[in-house]
Amino acid sequence: MTDKSSNQMWGGRFAAGPDAIMEAINASIGYDRRMAAQDISGSRAHAAMLAKAGIITDKDAEAIREGLLTVLSEIEGGSFNFSAALEDIHMNVEARLKEIIGEPAGRLHTGRSRNDQVATDFKLWVRDQIDAAISGIEALMRALLAQAEAGADWVMPGFTHLQTAQPVTWGHHMMAYVEMLARDRSRFEDARKRMNESPLGAAALAGTSFPIDRHMTAEALGFDRPSANSLDAVSDRDFALDFLSAASICAIHLSRLSEELVIWSSAQFRFVTLSDRFSTGSSIMPQKKNPDAAELIRAKIGRIFGANTALTIVMKGLPLAYSKDMQEDKEQTFDAADSLMLALAAMEGMVKDMSANRDSLEAAAGSGFSTATDLADWLVRALNMPFRDAHHVTGTLVAMAESRGCDLPDLSLEDMKSVHAEITEEVFGVLGVHNSVASRVSYGGTAPDQVRAQVARWKETLG
Ligand code: ARG
Repeated sequence: MTDKSSNQMWGGRFAAGPDAIMEAINASIGYDRRMAAQDISGSRAHAAMLAKAGIITDKDAEAIREGLLTVLSEIEGGSFNFSAALEDIHMNVEARLKEIIGEPAGRLHTGRSRNDQVATDFKLWVRDQIDAAISGIEALMRALLAQAEAGADWVMPGFTHLQTAQPVTWGHHMMAYVEMLARDRSRFEDARKRMNESPLGAAALAGTSFPIDRHMTAEALGFDRPSANSLDAVSDRDFALDFLSAASICAIHLSRLSEELVIWSSAQFRFVTLSDRFSTGSSIMPQKKNPDAAELIRAKIGRIFGANTALTIVMKGLPLAYSKDMQEDKEQTFDAADSLMLALAAMEGMVKDMSANRDSLEAAAGSGFSTATDLADWLVRALNMPFRDAHHVTGTLVAMAESRGCDLPDLSLEDMKSVHAEITEEVFGVLGVHNSVASRVSYGGTAPDQVRAQVARWKETLG
């Protein structure tokens, strides 16, 4: 045996153990213990394959299998003693396995390396997070669909530059987020397809001389196939970057919706009332109900983008194959995944519970000359006026209404005629907000029937 103070995994080459600072900078067990279940699955698949290929005996494989299950139950039960001296989850598990089953534990690492082991574990972990993100997104899409269905014909102001632009429907606004989230979901699905190749058996970097069966372990772990180049397999962290960039774009969407909820729930807007369950009070101002969850979701994007940027910089310029830099891939990815899942769940809860204030939405929809475009379009349609002229006539009428402190439908026909003599009574038919939204029947437009058609399509797709 080697000196006690040197490492039990590579003590043969070392006379002394590491400096305390070396141990501190080197250890990843503080966070990679989160991959314990994946590590044990990977080892079980590897051991079963080694036995099948005749590289270890069935008896040893069985001892390894049993031992690994014991280790897993110790970890899950909280009785496992993690050691920083054993650096990471891979060595912690293997060392404990040795304590439990003795000699056969030493045969588990045949034909593999921690380099393919960590790539496999981390991939399995990220893949689980992709699946969780997809379910979280779908749950949020369902909450938005319910809102859209209830308010398919409720009118509200649509904005550009946060200035009243044209009336839209509440349902249409909710469905805009359903579309964004559907793209987010497809980004995660793409990432999953692309990443689903097994690195296990790439060994340190060059493959192995043992007659291993990489197809067998790939299949056991739910991968579509083994990765085709051993150097690439241990060097690749694209899968984590794909996950983080999909998460970042999804977080952008969540932050935009958060921002709208913050604005809409203010006393100045009163478009929505957030439930007590998803609001907080103020310790000093009794009247306050704060949209804290929306604000926190809006802020979470910082952490998610941070992780994406950090890993990009870690990977940039690294020579092939494995370098220890790559140990810095996990901690921030874990944090980003936690942040995304929490943000999705909180947003789903908020959207499910919130109530749109139909009357406030309708009152606001009519203000700010929101049907000016309808007036201009009517001039084009009814009087065959070129759009640019119609824009000018309408602008003059808006200025007139503004100077009188009234809205467009409040002007008299005489007022209208004073600007353009051919305008008729018929124009008033397009000026109300309900008329306005009902007329926007182009595919994907805001007309209630269009919205209902999109709701039905998505309900069918989501099942
Ligand atoms: N803890 C390491 C990591 O997270 C495992 C791989 C170590 N490989 C090595 N050759 N030192 O990246």
